[in-house]
Amino acid sequence: MPDKKLSRKFPTDLGSWASLKKHYRDPMRSTTLKQLFERDPQRFTKFSVEACDLFLDYSKNRLTEETRDLLVALAADAGVPAAIEAMFRGEAINLTERRPALHVALRSKLSDQVALETPGVADIWKTLEQMSQFVAAVHQGELCGNSGRPLREIVNIGIGGSDLGVTMASRALRPYWHADMRFHSVSNVDGTQLTDLTRELNPAETLFVICSKTFTTQETMANAEAAKRWIRRKLGADATNDHFAAASTNQQAMDRFGINPRFRFAFWDWVGGRYSLWSSVGLSLALVIGMDHFRDLLAGARRMDQHFRSAALAENMPVLLALVDIWNRNFLGSHSQAVLPYDNRLDRFPAYLQQLHMESNGKSVRADGCKVTVDTAPAVWGEPGSNAQHSFYQLLHQGTQSIPVDFILPVRGSADDESQQQLAIANCLAQSEALMEGYTAAEAKADLLASGLSDGEAKLLAPHRVHAGNRVSNTIVFERLTPSTLGQLLALYEHKVFVEGIVWGINSFDQYGVELGKRVAKSLLGAVRDGAAYGGSNDSTRGLLARISRLSP
Ligand code: F6P
Repeated sequence: MPDKKLSRKFPTDLGSWASLKKHYRDPMRSTTLKQLFERDPQRFTKFSVEACDLFLDYSKNRLTEETRDLLVALAADAGVPAAIEAMFRGEAINLTERRPALHVALRSKLSDQVALETPGVADIWKTLEQMSQFVAAVHQGELCGNSGRPLREIVNIGIGGSDLGVTMASRALRPYWHADMRFHSVSNVDGTQLTDLTRELNPAETLFVICSKTFTTQETMANAEAAKRWIRRKLGADATNDHFAAASTNQQAMDRFGINPRFRFAFWDWVGGRYSLWSSVGLSLALVIGMDHFRDLLAGARRMDQHFRSAALAENMPVLLALVDIWNRNFLGSHSQAVLPYDNRLDRFPAYLQQLHMESNGKSVRADGCKVTVDTAPAVWGEPGSNAQHSFYQLLHQGTQSIPVDFILPVRGSADDESQQQLAIANCLAQSEALMEGYTAAEAKADLLASGLSDGEAKLLAPHRVHAGNRVSNTIVFERLTPSTLGQLLALYEHKVFVEGIVWGINSFDQYGVELGKRVAKSLLGAVRDGAAYGGSNDSTRGLLARISRLSP
């Protein structure tokens, strides 16, 4: 039975949705990007927006001012402004789990008064202070390994939101690493990451940071127990005390594991896993980049929060990014979304965005329990350019589907030779231009003839060289990848995902879709590990278990 309290309007029942459908059929279906640019010399200015230190060019999308007006009307009709306020007020917007989603409080200042009456919010700044003291003590050698060696090797153990944020951000912020500190992460269930790491690391200088909201996640606990066995074997039974820190909401489980009380960091149930980088889950990152830089990351996100809360819908960068995505997904029919950063330090950014978009909005049921009537999150994927140009861009240019792209472009690089970033910039701009402009059969034929081919040969080869063009993209430009600009970028995408969830009528803050697989895995473990009889009825699983048992050591 759908819950009336949770009920939001179906987007397809909104007048603005119907108007957008009509507007797509005529005139947008037959309008090309090239025509749009030819008709309006002011297009770039009209379809770009600046917020904090980020600049978003969304002019290379198949939309007009009328499209944007209709999309903004859709956001208003769907209740986006009220939803934004509800989030900042700490209302229970995570409707199915009946709690707030207050990652914005984690990077707020006390004076911002973000949801101060919510239990736990008043402790945010105490926890940040505790993190500061801990980080300083490690850096100054006041806290050291059990044999007196400095703790320089920081190993984050976590998975999903307890891994992707810190791993992505530590790689992105490599130039900000504290001298001598090194970051590593261990997440996957098969144990290979830890095996490889322990061959390299000096246990006496290693600090494991276990990040787990629940402190029960199978992968994290298996890796944490294996790390504990390694430390004890190498340094003695008491060493757990000095070589493990933890961020969790589960105090009892931290007790059972033997986490030193001084090395424990709290957070709260209203912090969702994929929104938790800003909490004590960021500890391993803070240890490596230092607390001042961690605070800059929070400050950058706060700036984007302020923009999101105060800017009009038509000038609101996260709202516009969401609306362009909705336009591409629900009206132009795109199935996936590529994210292509032109800075190799953002190599884990697409993976981070995958969880953010797909765990938040990969849903077919609305918050009120009814089935959705529109497509929700597209598949999100990507790799840094220009590497990716030499692998999958072929499909972006000439594949049968048109895939919207977000190009992420810092202008100043952080390589020893900063001028190499100019190559990256030229490549990035070239790709968005080529995707849009394409290359016609006539152009291809003319170029082939000019290169000395016969008319027959040129005719034969020209079709293979055609790029249809009219392929859409956004470009996000900023001066440099810093803790602040990274914070802005992450908050931008968090809010984009939130706005999409509101328009689609889904709850972006639960993730029931990961539970079933976890449960089935638990029930199969006995059959895999101990050869217990398989209790299920799936013939394929039974056959695979038999085959696996024959191959098992
Ligand atoms: O994969 C599901 C999930 O709950 C994610 O949302 C979360 O980020 C991850 O598992 C880790 O959970 P925990 O922090 O409780 O170990």
